[in-house]
Amino acid sequence: MSDAKKLAAEKAIDYVQDGMIVGVGTGSTVAYFIDALAAWKDRIAGAVSSSEQSTARLQAHGIEVIDLNAAGPLALYVDGADECDGHKRLIKGGGAALTREKIIAEASARFVCIIDPSKQVDVLGRFPLPVEVIPMARSLVAREILRMTGGQPVWRDGVITDNGNVILDVHNLSITDPVAMERELNQIPGVVSVGLFARRPADVVIVGGQPPRVL
Ligand code: A5P
Repeated sequence: MSDAKKLAAEKAIDYVQDGMIVGVGTGSTVAYFIDALAAWKDRIAGAVSSSEQSTARLQAHGIEVIDLNAAGPLALYVDGADECDGHKRLIKGGGAALTREKIIAEASARFVCIIDPSKQVDVLGRFPLPVEVIPMARSLVAREILRMTGGQPVWRDGVITDNGNVILDVHNLSITDPVAMERELNQIPGVVSVGLFARRPADVVIVGGQPPRVL
C-alpha cells in the first residue's frame, strides 16, 4: 500500500501553485506529500499544518509553518483519510488529528484527499469512527453515542490529542446518512469533533495506483 500512498501523494502536487499557502493534513500518505512538497519550498509561501507531527516534518524540510489565523482562507488542503465513500465523504481521525484537520478543511476552497484503494468503501463505518472528546465528558459521551447509534465506543487509551483531549473510536457502525450522524454527534456536550467529513466532504479524491485515479 505504501507505493499507492506515494503515487497518490505525488499526484496531489499537480494542485500546488506558485505563492500558495498549502493546508497540510496528517498521516502516512501526507508524509509522502510533504516530502514531495519540499521541492516546492521556494515557490510556495508556506504551509498550515494540522498536527505537531506534520509540523515537524514540514520544518525538517525547511517549509515555513504559518498559523491559520495569519494565513486566512486557503486555496488548497491536502490530506489523507481512513475511509472514503462514493460521494467523497470521509472517515478521518485514525491519527487523532481530526479536529485541526476539520478546521483546515473548512478554511480551504479545495480539499484534495489522497488515499490508497483500500480506503474506498460503499458505506462508511467499517473503520471505527473517531470522536474527539473533552476528557471529563468521556463516559457521558460514550453512553450517549451507544444510545444514539448502537455503535460501541472504545476509549483509545493512552492517546491524548494535540488539543489535550481524548479519542473514542466507535465500532460496528453502518453509516447510511453521514451528514445526519455528523450533525447529531456534534450536539453531544463534550464532543469536540466527529471524524465524519460529510457536511464538508473532499472536493477531489486521488486514489493511488499506476496511474493514479482522480475522482
Ligand atoms: C489523521 O487523524 C487521519 O485523519 C489521517 O488523515 C488518516 O488516518 C490517514 O491515514 P494514512 O496514514 O493511511 O494516510
